[in-house]
Amino acid sequence: MNQKSSTKIRCVDLWKVFGSNPERVVDQWATFDQNITKTELLDKTGCVVGVRDASLNIAEGEIFVLMGLSGSGKSTLLRCVNRLYEPTYGKVFIDDQEVTSLSFQELRNLRSKKTGMVFQHFALLPHRRVIENVGYGLEIQGVGKAKRESKAMESLELVGLKGWEKSYPHELSGGMQQRVGLARALATDPEILLMDEAFSALDPLIRRQMQDEFINLIKVVKKTIVFVTHDLQEAMRLANRIAVMKFGAIQQIAAPSEIVLHPKTDYVAEFVQDLPKVKFVTAKDIMETPDKWMVKPEYSITEMTNKMDQEGIWYAFLVDKNQNIKGVVDYRMLTNGNGDKNLKAEKLISEFPNERSDTFLEKLVSLAAKSTIPIAVTDKQNRINGVISRERLLDTLST
Ligand SMILES: Nc1ncnc2c1ncn2[C@@H]1O[C@H](COP(=O)(O)OP(=O)(O)OP(=O)(O)O)[C@@H](O)[C@H]1O
Ligand SMILES: [Mg+2]
Repeated sequence: MNQKSSTKIRCVDLWKVFGSNPERVVDQWATFDQNITKTELLDKTGCVVGVRDASLNIAEGEIFVLMGLSGSGKSTLLRCVNRLYEPTYGKVFIDDQEVTSLSFQELRNLRSKKTGMVFQHFALLPHRRVIENVGYGLEIQGVGKAKRESKAMESLELVGLKGWEKSYPHELSGGMQQRVGLARALATDPEILLMDEAFSALDPLIRRQMQDEFINLIKVVKKTIVFVTHDLQEAMRLANRIAVMKFGAIQQIAAPSEIVLHPKTDYVAEFVQDLPKVKFVTAKDIMETPDKWMVKPEYSITEMTNKMDQEGIWYAFLVDKNQNIKGVVDYRMLTNGNGDKNLKAEKLISEFPNERSDTFLEKLVSLAAKSTIPIAVTDKQNRINGVISRERLLDTLST
């Protein structure tokens, strides 16, 4: 995601209720028992709630994942974005355009130019060759054959299917068919990809491979993605942010590590409880601000040990005015001296664990097992961003 990101998709107070007179359910919802079940609601109103009062902002270039159990409303919410389902209440915006107030013609235009869809079952046309399947969206747009084919070839190349353009869908494996589906969505060069369980029909191994390729692909083509999955691991791997849904409502929207570390409801907590935290939490999620851990080159030894006494720390990083770490000082070495007033070079430890902010907990733990010195977290210019002590790591692991 870009540093300075603008909102691409916005849903405001969105509801989708299926059944007759669905507006009534929206109007009366506040008067219902808030723990009402689907079946009770159906008995009472004859309606089914697909999406309930959902509001969200998706940033340009973001991979936004909708996650939840079967029937929680993921597909319904996704389909409301380009009005494949007509929302019962609320508004949807793409860029600054209010999708929910577009005419039929404008909507068709938006769907064919701005959004592309990828589904679980690849929905390829069986009697058309791969290249014709991929060019299908362009054909609908009225693009001529030569242009269609060159665009289709480009997007086949993007998904690694160059050489298969003349094949028929049935000649391809599931994973390859899914790539064709993706290539088809990419061929019209939409700004937004709406993906519903796109990888769910694939074998676990192929699925992971597709996820990795997809992450790389998205870095190149720069799309805004709304990705539906009921698979938490997949959500954690792909998402910049995840929305967890239950019975049509959004329970929490947060970055993957935030969901694991700070689930907002019992439902979300239960969802993530079995996840291996070490694989999803990163250094930046748990690091402390570095100030407490820093001493300056101009400090005398007494000033250094005083600060370390105050902070209750055994090690400190010697940091210059550019925020670069020059080495580590050990309280015991400093106090066990021969009355030196200033730091001697031989008392500066030059080897210490040093990681970037996106290092996973798994690696941090193994580093902490090898060194008692806290882990320094630095940026590309080698400036200190944070520090992770062993205590901090143990706290994180135990909660
Ligand atoms: N066309 C429809 N007509 C009536 N009810 C529907 C329709 N589509 C969805 N629903 C209902 O809306 C609720 C949400 O369904 P939705 O398909 O969005 O769930 P989901 O989270 O995508 O589930 P899954 O993981 O099984 O795909 C469910 O109770 C479902 O039965
Ligand atoms: Mg679904």
